[in-house]
Amino acid sequence: MQIPFNFGKVVGTTQFINREIEIDSLSLNLESHINTLLISPRRWGKSSLVAKVADRMQKKDKKIRFCFIDMFSIRDEEEFYEVFATEIIKATSNKWQEWAENGKNLLLKLIPRFQIGIDPTNDFKISFDWKELKQHSSEILDLPEKVSIEKNIHLIICIDEFQNISHFEEPLIVQKKMRSVWQKHQIATYCLYGSKRHMLSEIFENTSMPFYKFGDTMFLKKIEHTHWVKYIIRQFKRTDKKISKALASNIAETMENHPYFVQLFAATIWKFTGKTCEQQTIDRALESLMEQYSLVFQRETDNFTNKQLNFLKALAKDVQQFSSRETLTNYNLGSQGNVKRIKTALEKKEVIDLWGAKIEFMDPLFRLWFVKVFMKGE
Ligand SMILES: Nc1ncnc2c1ncn2[C@@H]1O[C@H](COP(=O)(O)OP(=O)(O)OP(=O)(O)O)[C@@H](O)[C@H]1O
Ligand SMILES: [Mg+2]
Repeated sequence: MQIPFNFGKVVGTTQFINREIEIDSLSLNLESHINTLLISPRRWGKSSLVAKVADRMQKKDKKIRFCFIDMFSIRDEEEFYEVFATEIIKATSNKWQEWAENGKNLLLKLIPRFQIGIDPTNDFKISFDWKELKQHSSEILDLPEKVSIEKNIHLIICIDEFQNISHFEEPLIVQKKMRSVWQKHQIATYCLYGSKRHMLSEIFENTSMPFYKFGDTMFLKKIEHTHWVKYIIRQFKRTDKKISKALASNIAETMENHPYFVQLFAATIWKFTGKTCEQQTIDRALESLMEQYSLVFQRETDNFTNKQLNFLKALAKDVQQFSSRETLTNYNLGSQGNVKRIKTALEKKEVIDLWGAKIEFMDPLFRLWFVKVFMKGE
């Protein structure tokens, strides 16, 4: 029997829950040709949401075509253009030969080189002469609109981990080029998303940056508690196992309704459950997860300064007022300016999340481990 929970992958239909409002508003934006920036901390469900929206929209309207580009491993401008062109072709034609034909009308100045892979229908890569590419990069950036017109489709370009553009050699120049071409596009629409909030806000919210006001910004939230409870009970039942509402609620609460961690925790508990899940089953599963991650967490904590550790200890005890004299003294945090620096550093390291009204640990499992092992229940 398969584990009825999914973590670490884009979630498919049976395991995708809620997000109704987000699905509607993202679909409406994209359908209306409004560029959208989707931001949330890591593993809250951006990729799953966009995949769901793409699936629904493409089924509903045959003219809509999504193209996915993941910038996770793209490190320079040249590679970006090559992947960009390759993915657009893959998304909009059945065979590369077909596109190579059409391509002559679309690319006037650049000559694409096709490298064919094992499966010649799907597996190919395009490359260009770098000197020429640098000179005529706008031709590549213009492809989505040109292809949309040529094929009478509405192309929606989704770029994941967009903040990686900051690692390019000349990030500002590339952004300027992109913006100047893409803002003229009437049909092609862009959905840009990623998880590094501080990097993304620098790109999109800074008035002096090229992508300022490029589109509508959506901040994805966690999934609400009640949805998790229903989902956990349902998935246990589907696989002939039992769990009470109280215990299902306990699972979601322990992982603070964090999409990835609720799924991971539920999967572990499910594995430990014979017929019926008990409180003990949950305790054992938590114990096992912490053990599994302890080496990683230990390494992570080794990299923190003493003041950063003090800050996390205070946070683990639910302290929120870090500027009060009492907190500064009790936790030996130094000055208020120091606290500000600690916050920025921990946010950059993706340990804490400063988005909402409350400061939170990014990773609920790390928080539990930190309290149990590092603070020894202090
Ligand atoms: N709508 C959902 N219903 C159920 N589980 C979800 C949902 N969205 C996300 N999850 C859970 O969270 C995990 C992470 O989702 P996803 O990969 O979509 O997030 P992400 O924000 O794109 O992550 P990353 O920042 O790593 O790219 C999924 O594998 C799944 O366990
Ligand atoms: Mg993702």
